[in-house]
Amino acid sequence: MTKKIAPSILSADIMNLERDVKIAEKAGADLFHIDIMDGHFVPNMSFSPSVVAGMRSITDKPLDVHMMVDNPDQYIKPVVDAGADTVLIHTESTNHIYRSIELVKSLGAKAGVVVNPGTPLENVKYLFPIIDQILVMTVNPGFGGQKFMPGMLKKIERLDQLRQTTEDDNFTIEVDGGINDETIQQCSEAGADIFVAGSYLFGGEGESEFSDKIQNLRKLAED
Ligand code: DX5
Ligand code: ZN
Repeated sequence: MTKKIAPSILSADIMNLERDVKIAEKAGADLFHIDIMDGHFVPNMSFSPSVVAGMRSITDKPLDVHMMVDNPDQYIKPVVDAGADTVLIHTESTNHIYRSIELVKSLGAKAGVVVNPGTPLENVKYLFPIIDQILVMTVNPGFGGQKFMPGMLKKIERLDQLRQTTEDDNFTIEVDGGINDETIQQCSEAGADIFVAGSYLFGGEGESEFSDKIQNLRKLAED
């Protein structure tokens, strides 16, 4: 599977978001990762569906929307209407993850499920037939710039093994949190396909640095 790099706009310069998105596009971003936080499911607040709409108006790249909210069902239609291509729902945020995934699919978007570091893969196994993506959190969700949890590599490996042994293998594996030039290769070897990167990519010195970093990540992921 081709490896994909997804800049997380949580670490972009919010007052210059369009500039940063254009820089990331030019540098070869495959898709954009947008974090939605409600201050309840995670102890932080971030973007809302209107930011998804804003992003949709400035880029044709796929938008990967990571819902860190309680009661995710109430925000699914708003984010799909705003232009999300993939909606990622935490298993821990709802009693009825199967229903939430079905709701995403019924609206015509791709559906993904997210597992926190402490959540076992057992909780997503029966979702394989209906999901397009599984996001393995490699930090506690809520903030950019945290340290990668090496213990999650085993989980990624195990998920990839499960994928290789099921007929319902039509999903990609994404990782989010602490992805940089030291951790991406390990995650890729463990079986991840899509790599979210926030603080590693943004906050540097302009276009050429961004471009070098993204190319470096891609090379390390593909090696
Ligand atoms: C954290 C978010 C991430 C965040 C990653 O809860 O889900 O998408 O932007 O940031 P880095 O790459 O800095 O760990
Ligand atoms: Zn995220």
